[in-house]
Amino acid sequence: MAKHNLESENNLRRTKTKKTNRKNEGIPNELLSVTKKQREQRKEAFKSAILDYNLKQAPKTILITGCSGFIGSHLADALLAQGHRVLAIDNLSTGRLDNIRHLQENPDFNFACANMTYEVVLDRMASQADVIIHLAAAVGVKLIVERPVHTIETNVMGTEAVLQVGRRYGCRILIASTSEVYGKGNGIPYREDDDVVLGATSKSRWAYAASKMVDEFLGLAYQQEYNVPVVLLRLFNTVGPRQTGRYGMVIPRLVAQALTGEAITVYGDGMQSRCFCDVSDVVRAITGLVEHPEAPGRVYNIGGTEEIKILDLAKRIKALMDSPSEIVHIPYADAYPGGFEDMQRRVPDTNRIHELLGWQPKLSLDQILLRVRDDFKTQFAGEPKATQASVPTAKAS
Ligand SMILES: NC(=O)c1ccc[n+]([C@@H]2O[C@H](COP(=O)([O-])OP(=O)(O)OC[C@H]3O[C@@H](n4cnc5c(N)ncnc54)[C@H](O)[C@@H]3O)[C@@H](O)[C@H]2O)c1
Repeated sequence: MAKHNLESENNLRRTKTKKTNRKNEGIPNELLSVTKKQREQRKEAFKSAILDYNLKQAPKTILITGCSGFIGSHLADALLAQGHRVLAIDNLSTGRLDNIRHLQENPDFNFACANMTYEVVLDRMASQADVIIHLAAAVGVKLIVERPVHTIETNVMGTEAVLQVGRRYGCRILIASTSEVYGKGNGIPYREDDDVVLGATSKSRWAYAASKMVDEFLGLAYQQEYNVPVVLLRLFNTVGPRQTGRYGMVIPRLVAQALTGEAITVYGDGMQSRCFCDVSDVVRAITGLVEHPEAPGRVYNIGGTEEIKILDLAKRIKALMDSPSEIVHIPYADAYPGGFEDMQRRVPDTNRIHELLGWQPKLSLDQILLRVRDDFKTQFAGEPKATQASVPTAKAS
C-alpha cells in the first residue's frame, strides 16, 4: 500500500514537472519564482558558468622547453594526442630533430630552434601559453664536470627566464628537477621533504644537483611571493625509446653493448642500485600534474620503485637480449671524469603523487628493457657501432 502511494505520488510529480517545463519552454524551475529581470541575470550567469567550465576543459597551449630531447619529445606526443597545442623550444645541444620530425606536419605543433634564454623567442611563445613545462637543462656527467659554468648558467638562468615569462603571462609552470638533489642522503626511500646532503663545492659534479636545487628554491619562491603556480618534478632514472646512450645513461649503454656483442661494462663492483621508470609512465605523471588544481606549490618524486643492483641489471640485459657479450668491471676512476662521486642507492617514495593522482608506474623493468631493445634496433640501425655503445661517461640524472 505504502509502495503504491509512493509510485502515484511520483507519477503526479512527473506530470507536474512535464507541464511546468512545457509551459515555461525549458527554463529551469529554479528560475521561475523570480522577477523577469532577475531571471535574465541568472540566465546570463548560468551561461557564463558553462562557458567557464568549457574553457577549463578546453585544449591548452603548452610550451615545452627542451622539447626535442628524450622526455620532451614523448611529452609532446602525449599532449598533442590529448588535443592540446604544443609550442616547442630547443637549442638541439643534447636533443635531436629526429625525436620530433614526425610532428613537423602537425598544425598544433610549433618548434623554435633557439636557446631558451633568447628572450624574444621565449617571450613570444610564453605569451600564447597556458602552461610551460621546463625540461631544457645541461645534462650529462661529462658536460657537468667539464663545463660547470655552462651547467650552472644553463640550469639556473634558464629556469629564471622561464619563471619570469610565466609570471608575466599568468602560466602554470612545471620544472624538471632531479633525484640528484638528494645527493648523498641515505634515508631510503627518499621523501620530498627529506634533508639533502651534497658533496663539496670543489667537486664540480655536484654543480648539477646544486643548480637544480636552486631551480626548486626559485620556483617555490615565485609561487610564494608572486603567486605563480609552480610544480616541481623530481625525476628519477627515466628510460625508454629515443634515449641516446651517447651521454652514458646506463640502460641504453648496456643494451647497446649487449646488442652489438661488445663487453657489457659495469662500473665499480656493480653493487650500486637504481630504480628505473619508463618514459611513458613519467609522461603520464607530468600530464596529470599539468591539469590537477592542487598540484602547484609542491615537489613530486616521479620514479620507478623496482630497485636493482647494476651488476644484476647487466646480467638481466645479457639474458634478455640473448647476448654473447661478457660482463666486465671498470674501476670508477677509469669510468668517470675526476671529481665524480656515485651514490649507492636511489629509491623514491612516490606516495605524494600517488595520493594526488593515483599515479604509479605501470611498466616492469623487463618491459622497459624490451622497449629499449626494440628502439635500438630501429633508431641506431644506420649508425656506426662506436657511437652506439662506446660512451665514456655516465649521465647524472
Ligand atoms: N632522463 C632522466 O633520467 C632524467 C632524470 C632526472 C631529471 N631529468 C631532467 O629532465 C629534463 C629532460 O631530460 P632528458 O633526459 O630528456 O634530457 P635531454 O638531454 O634529452 O633533454 C634536454 C633538452 O634540453 C635542450 N637544451 C639544453 N639546453 C638548452 C638551452 N639552453 N636552450 C634550449 N634547449 C636546451 C637539449 O637540446 C635537449 O633537447 C632535464 O631537465 C633533466 O635534468 C631527466
